[in-house]
Amino acid sequence: MAISADVQKSARDLLAFIDASPSPWHAVATAAERLNQQGFEALSEVDSWQLKAGGRYFVARNGSIIAFVMGQQSPVSTGLNMIGAHTDSPGLRLKPNAAYSTDGLIRIGVEVYGGPILATFADRDLSLAGQVNVRTKQGFDTHLIKFDEPIVRLPNLAIHMNREVNDKGLKFNKQTELPLLFGEGKEGVDADAQFIGHLADKLKVKPADIINFELNVFDTQKGVIWGAHQEFIANSQLDNLASCHAALTAICNTENSQTTSICALFDHEEVGSESATGANGSFLANVVDRICLDLNQEDKLRAFSKSFFISADMAHAFHPNFSGSYEPCHHVQVNQGPVIKTNANQRYATDAKTAARFIQICEQAGVPYQQYAHRTDLGCGSTIGPIIASKLGIPSVDVGAPMWAMHSIRESAGVLDHHYMISVLNTFLK
Ligand code: CO
Repeated sequence: MAISADVQKSARDLLAFIDASPSPWHAVATAAERLNQQGFEALSEVDSWQLKAGGRYFVARNGSIIAFVMGQQSPVSTGLNMIGAHTDSPGLRLKPNAAYSTDGLIRIGVEVYGGPILATFADRDLSLAGQVNVRTKQGFDTHLIKFDEPIVRLPNLAIHMNREVNDKGLKFNKQTELPLLFGEGKEGVDADAQFIGHLADKLKVKPADIINFELNVFDTQKGVIWGAHQEFIANSQLDNLASCHAALTAICNTENSQTTSICALFDHEEVGSESATGANGSFLANVVDRICLDLNQEDKLRAFSKSFFISADMAHAFHPNFSGSYEPCHHVQVNQGPVIKTNANQRYATDAKTAARFIQICEQAGVPYQQYAHRTDLGCGSTIGPIIASKLGIPSVDVGAPMWAMHSIRESAGVLDHHYMISVLNTFLK
């Protein structure tokens, strides 16, 4: 398989996007920076909006961001073209009083966020990124923080004390065995003061001015392209920053469209989406209301029924070492195109009509596609598709690029599939 320079370029751009986005808040900042460069105007939810036909805008709500391009025609005649994805990934988050000292070492207490493969966090060059609130005269400012160098670690227990590790698997007790090592803590050392001091030094503020923080644990290893012909990629957070990147690329390529295009990237998908910023919150509905402000209620509902929502989240690629884990007729192959995800119990929003519509967009784009259903005797995951579909009543489809090792701290996927996903989303928004 020969990979063209164009395809390699979008893969490298994806890896750079992920490396710059070690937390959902960083993903929002990275997206905002790219949107700014592409002439999108930043809106604030507290201001009054004056939206114009052809205008390019974005608005952020903490870990979520929505970008949109106003169509030349009213949504009542064209509907809305919408793409959604999620900014968060499963992993470890710091507890508020994180640092404590025992046995000569400072450790950092963590909570498990969503459903990561915990064993993959062991022996990695981990660090911390997120937001810190710093006192000001008026109240407080929220600062993004990211330590580029590894500052925390979860060392494995040696095999000599865990003789059955290769037979029974690597397991961590979430309370007692997951705290991360941070530094040496001699007798009487105030671990918390040392940790807060570290944050303060990084932000160049006084420790006493740090009110609190929200910090994510991330892997400092950068993304790579790999394989005999450099046809694969590996990085953390491919689920679902790869879909965020594809959706963002497509909305940035959208200009002078008749139809209003919306790209909504949500936080909290990995923990159920039920929050002010998540897909089950009001954010998207609020933005759509403001886009449709000139329409009466009936025309707004008419616009919804003409709309289409593509929920983009990663899909499970077939792994030949574990062939028994897959549904026989649904062996999704890496580098063979976007996957349409179907589940009769509506864990995915896809129905035959919305799948047919997506298939025709793929055909129009000249992109192959694949179909996925989970094994009937295994619990199926879900995503934001069914949530948006049920909240707004908009016909929706769940799709995604195939990947291996979903929810590992180091996931992998196909270079070509990312290019295909961008092409399909480009075609959809055009
Ligand atoms: Co996902």
